[in-house]
Amino acid sequence: MLRRPRRNRRSEAIRNLNRETHLSPGHLVQPLFLMEGDEAKVAIPSLPGSYRLSLESTLREIETCLELGVHSFILFPAVPDERKDKEATYSYNPDNFYLKAATAIKERFPECCLISDVAMDPYSSDGHDGLVLDGKIANDETLLILSKMAVAQAHAGFDILGPSDMMDGRVQAIREGLDREGYTDTGIMSYTAKYASAFYGPFRDALESAPKASGDIPADKKTYQMDPANKQEALIEGELDTMEGADFLMVKPALNYLDVIHLLKHSFDLPIAAYHVSGECAMLLAACRNGWLEYEKAMPETLLSIRRAGADVIITYFAKDYAKLTG
Ligand code: PBG
Repeated sequence: MLRRPRRNRRSEAIRNLNRETHLSPGHLVQPLFLMEGDEAKVAIPSLPGSYRLSLESTLREIETCLELGVHSFILFPAVPDERKDKEATYSYNPDNFYLKAATAIKERFPECCLISDVAMDPYSSDGHDGLVLDGKIANDETLLILSKMAVAQAHAGFDILGPSDMMDGRVQAIREGLDREGYTDTGIMSYTAKYASAFYGPFRDALESAPKASGDIPADKKTYQMDPANKQEALIEGELDTMEGADFLMVKPALNYLDVIHLLKHSFDLPIAAYHVSGECAMLLAACRNGWLEYEKAMPETLLSIRRAGADVIITYFAKDYAKLTG
């Protein structure tokens, strides 16, 4: 035999020389759930190890992550029901605890990168990402709200905004809103190919943001999030987001959509982010808690495979643990 691929696998030193994929904490984004009030933290039963955090606990968590080499965070607000309404007005209210928390975090840790969530669902009494009008999700009316929300987030100090709503034209509406107000340096990480997935369950538990049925609208997000059967359609979304001014394109979820990550990576020049979502993390945690998989091995392999598929950035609930494990 002239060719023996096993020669390149003989020792750790040789394997290091021909390793194709590298993943370091700098590629990772840690999601954090924020809540108002003095209680330090509240566990999320369907996502063991993740919590809703007070501002004080959030600052401590960010400090630990920074020391471990994770510098980027995507923040989500757990909004009490009494602050929700049909128009999600609390999302751009200057008293919004989420906006105030972002300002406090950037004041304390100016070096960190804060990514926001731009969508109506945490603030909407209907639990939808868009405005419910006459029994429909009203696309263009939603854009006005998203644009206001985006400007409020930029003003609060977020570095990058993450539109996760899947309305048509949102990236352009947000970009124009930001530029008009002088926030030309605030970036947009667009949820380009966000699927109507069954794997967001623990996240919706964390925020109590499950969609409700209303008029002709069922209790799901299928009229705006993408059909899991579609891949070609991700190219349409990618092209639109690129033209509309996005700085990153995101695929979500990650593991069941590795082919879509690969496709976007090879079709566009923008950096690709993959969101390893709550349900995907919960599955792995459940198996590990049962003793069926080994966390220290299964978790890094999972993140590596998302990176190998083409993700430049990985948003994962395991970011801190990965940094701890490899540091
Ligand atoms: C909503 C939003 C969702 C997630 C991020 N932003 C849920 C949804 O679309 O219903 C899910 C993230 C996760 O499951 O980890 N704007």
